[in-house]
Amino acid sequence: MKGVVLAGGYGTRFHPVTRVVNKHMLDVFDEPMVYYPIRSLAQAGVTEVILVTITESVEQFRNLLGDGAELGVNIQYASQQGAGGIAEALLQAAPMAAGDDVMVVLGDNIFQDDLTSYVQSFHDQGKGAKILLKRVSLDDALRFGVAEVRDGRIIGIEEKPAKPKSELIVTGCYMYDDRVFDLIANLSPSERGELEVTDLNNLYVEEGTMSYDILRGWWTDAGTPASKLKASILVALEKGVTFHR
Ligand code: G1P
Repeated sequence: MKGVVLAGGYGTRFHPVTRVVNKHMLDVFDEPMVYYPIRSLAQAGVTEVILVTITESVEQFRNLLGDGAELGVNIQYASQQGAGGIAEALLQAAPMAAGDDVMVVLGDNIFQDDLTSYVQSFHDQGKGAKILLKRVSLDDALRFGVAEVRDGRIIGIEEKPAKPKSELIVTGCYMYDDRVFDLIANLSPSERGELEVTDLNNLYVEEGTMSYDILRGWWTDAGTPASKLKASILVALEKGVTFHR
């Protein structure tokens, strides 16, 4: 299985900070944001990693991460021209990952859980895909992909719905079998002109091969100034920092 970290985009929610620095290099507590998803992969035993970013940022990532040895992985780099969506970013990893299962982690997602057992159950499943869900409040769910679950199966996922059908949101960790690149190649761009990961996931849902697990520990994205601050606080508390006032 190959790991794919998606660290593209222009980080517009952080402008002006991200005019010169890639969002995934900003700090989450005491380390660059991208370290956390890479560590999650390494911890789960997924050590062959492809990092996809926009062309303008590849060199900076090479300077920061090198071959990945410091984080216990081996990193190859792939570039995406512009920001065409998560599924399009993943497609850039195809030449290096074709023929393998992939575990994709968004570069701004921070997981407290050790992901090893989820990877194991995906391997046991043999075919299809697995996503990791997190229970949040309904008013927070609007910001994410939301899964509708019935009788222990996902029956559909909606991207940023105005009225979420559940409190189970789709986190940025996706496991796919080796058919994923062919499936992406057949996706059509959404209204905002992107190849959506939710459309890709719904193909597996329709096929009946999408499984899920619900995260037990805390999880957050760090993709907005507020959620990045929350991520920093959660990580700091995890590392035993106490805040005095
Ligand atoms: C993306 C996905 C969304 C998912 C989220 C997790 O949204 O499109 O389905 O719930 O990541 O972080 P974005 O953060 O790119 O808006």
